[in-house]
Amino acid sequence: MKPNVKKIPGPKSQKIIDKLKKVNLGNSIVYPFVHSNKGQGCYFYDIDNNLFLDFASQIASNPLGYNNLELKNVIKRYSNRHPIKYAGQDFTVKEHKDLIEELLTIVPKTLNSAFLINSGAEAVENSIKICMRKRPKTKFGIAFQGSFHGRTIGALSLTHSKPVYNKNYLKIPNKIISFNENAKDELLKIMKNYDSESIGFVILEPIQGEGGYNVASKKMLIDIRKITNKYNIPLISDEVQSGMGRTGKWWAIENFNITPDVISTAKALQVGAVIANKKFSPEPGAISSTWGGGHILDLALGLETIKIIKRKKLLNNINNMGYYLGKRINELNVENPRGIGLMQAFDLENKKLRDDVIIECLKNGLVLLGCGHNGIRLIPPYIISKTEINQAIEIIDSSIKKCSNKLFKHQGAICNYMNCGDILT
Ligand SMILES: Cc1ncc(COP(=O)(O)O)c(C=O)c1O
Repeated sequence: MKPNVKKIPGPKSQKIIDKLKKVNLGNSIVYPFVHSNKGQGCYFYDIDNNLFLDFASQIASNPLGYNNLELKNVIKRYSNRHPIKYAGQDFTVKEHKDLIEELLTIVPKTLNSAFLINSGAEAVENSIKICMRKRPKTKFGIAFQGSFHGRTIGALSLTHSKPVYNKNYLKIPNKIISFNENAKDELLKIMKNYDSESIGFVILEPIQGEGGYNVASKKMLIDIRKITNKYNIPLISDEVQSGMGRTGKWWAIENFNITPDVISTAKALQVGAVIANKKFSPEPGAISSTWGGGHILDLALGLETIKIIKRKKLLNNINNMGYYLGKRINELNVENPRGIGLMQAFDLENKKLRDDVIIECLKNGLVLLGCGHNGIRLIPPYIISKTEINQAIEIIDSSIKKCSNKLFKHQGAICNYMNCGDILT
């Protein structure tokens, strides 16, 4: 297969998106196509029959690509069942137990229980809640510069990647430290002024996602783990984006040989999850949600996703293809290539060029996402091959060359959709 875009947006997509925009209270940046159900592996068709190569994976939430047969069989199994969503924290379904059991086979031994919830932000919310419950003297948490933890108020309070997310919203108290080797001294300085028991938790992404695909320094992580261990402060690894195998290990933090107290995850797992030692279990009623642990289709898809990654030994493919992708990115005329496994990124000279290149790639059938101020992330499905990586690199290379011309400017209908030159990521 090869990406093939005739017109973007195509007429059918354009109609639907225009109607949606009129009634949609949310106002995010809309990619100018509407998905069809056609496609295979890393490729999908939109409803106008344009064929795209997907290096965005539904923001890392579609790790096995399109029309995966085994996952479709799971969906078939549930096609005749109703309801599909149960009030799972109160009314038990077997899928709840099955997914937690399977999830616990791929996490560090000390993390021996999990709480299932609806989204990544809710996984973060509940992670900080279980920590604060165990620390009754909590006054604030610790978060990092450049962090992205979600958009609910609690998670958003800990999000420091871009001011637009937080403007006008009240916050839960937290102190921000640098995402580099100064973090240790900054944390110790805070602890000089406050009792360690007033710190409810430290939360970090081992590889920052939306904030710029910044890979943590190993020394920083080791320092933070030492301090949090010494003072018994729970360390939360937010792996909503980086977890579930994306970096070639099940959990990104394993690349640094560190065990956190809590892992929050979602996306590739198909449901949100908080994973921690059972000693973090709060009293009944403290954490719950109607659909948490009760969306039987998502639970079954999450279970099968883990099993497929194991059965097909996809961590090996992630490592091999991650290495190859990194090598090919290094050959491009780009700045600051970085990443682990299939969580890779690079920067371009400025934000305008970055945005122009994302749009130009899309016009040529390659779907990408931005990150940070002027970064582009590459997060293809775990089944990606060398041929597909080569196709992507070719499109990126020619797009950079074309957009680098000072006089370059996108024109036409696409500008109505992607706010040319102003993509929020
Ligand atoms: C690291 C991280 N945490 C939390 C979230 C929030 O997840 P969700 O969008 O499912 O609420 C995201 C989403 O991109 C994320 O990347």
